[in-house]
Amino acid sequence: MDYQTLILGAGAAGMMCAAQAGKSVLVIDHAKAAGEKIRISGGGRCNFTNLHTSPANFISANPHFVKSALTRYTQWDFIEMVAKHGIKYHEKTLGQLFCDDRAKEIIAMLRDEMKQADLWLRTNVIDIRHDGATFSTTVNREGKHHVIRHKNLVMATGGKSIPKMGATGLAYQIADQFGVPVTETRAGLVPFTFSDQRFSGISGCAVDARVQADGPAFDEALLFTHRGLSGPSILQASSYWLEGQDIAVNLSPQLDLYVALRDRRKTDGKKAVTTVLSQYLPNRLVEHLSPMLNIRGNLADQSDRVLQDLADKLHQWRITPHGTEGYRTAEVTLGGIDTNALNSKTMAVKAMPNLYFIGEAVDVTGWLGGYNFQWAWSSGWVAGQAISAQS
Ligand code: FDA
Repeated sequence: MDYQTLILGAGAAGMMCAAQAGKSVLVIDHAKAAGEKIRISGGGRCNFTNLHTSPANFISANPHFVKSALTRYTQWDFIEMVAKHGIKYHEKTLGQLFCDDRAKEIIAMLRDEMKQADLWLRTNVIDIRHDGATFSTTVNREGKHHVIRHKNLVMATGGKSIPKMGATGLAYQIADQFGVPVTETRAGLVPFTFSDQRFSGISGCAVDARVQADGPAFDEALLFTHRGLSGPSILQASSYWLEGQDIAVNLSPQLDLYVALRDRRKTDGKKAVTTVLSQYLPNRLVEHLSPMLNIRGNLADQSDRVLQDLADKLHQWRITPHGTEGYRTAEVTLGGIDTNALNSKTMAVKAMPNLYFIGEAVDVTGWLGGYNFQWAWSSGWVAGQAISAQS
């Protein structure tokens, strides 16, 4: 046996697992550096967890699956590690914790925590075999083939999102090879596209909105883009959207526009409806929507019914996206390794207990806001603990 444990993928989950898995651990990644997604995350500041993390913030065919790992390694445990390493952080909004300085500090922290493990970068996996007791993994490193014999294999190669950054979907291939079921995958936390460029005229315009697809409603910013719709509220809703469905957008979730316009009619009746509306919504957006809203004339000319109709259209705007930008820009991959095949306490495959799947590869997807990293930490930690308890 060359190593007790081989971890494929030096991302968030793989590094956390390596830090816990004890002795004789080799981590392999085909990238030139560990934790590349951590480095670019959160605009370079890494939204590393969320204060309000709970199972309700995750999407999975089995919503109960996350409970064990999230309870055993919580957001507070990760915050403690961050504090222990002297990394300064702050809450930006909605419980989202970001580094004050740079995401690279999180990578350095994890590299330090996993320092007893070996790390081979720029290494490609050629073949993985299992003889019933031992894995033999053939890799190519610096032009040379190596066969590594190991007891445990941890798949931490993430999902399919952002192939340009090295995402390959290798975990699904290996699952297939060893008979582990995989649920259908699709892009999540991803902007919507439209077949026409209907929003290009208001590209860059942002509004606080409430957006809902086939799931909970999200109150956050919505951004119009050349290709369609983006911004946190849209990304969140995209994870609950299926092709062909429409989405509901409330362009003024905090203020009842009917009440506001009706009241303003008393004092500003001589003003154009669009002028008054532009005090509550971005001017460019009002101009763009006015043909659809059929707005003409001054406020004083509008009956209560007309104002109610107008407000309803803005509060209950329904649109059908043509598609999404797909894995090219998606922050996460929905679906993945079927949780029914995994032990939720250890992340080991029930039918093959020395094979583990952790992180984004698994059919567990968090909301936007630090939840996906927390899943990577929690699932990586429980797998690492289970491995270190073997010896
Ligand atoms: P991750 O993708 O991190 O790591 C997988 C590793 O496996 C990579 O190092 C890769 O090179 C390697 N690998 C893949 N295929 C391989 C192969 N065939 N051979 C060898 N190695 C291979 N989440 C969050 O909570 N807060 C945030 O701020 C952000 N921000 C963010 C921004 C952007 C632009 C993206 C794309 C994503 C985020 N996320 C996020 C999501 C978060 O990055 C993601 O959920 C975690 O990185 C998943 O961790 P994993 O370790 O599972 O995979």
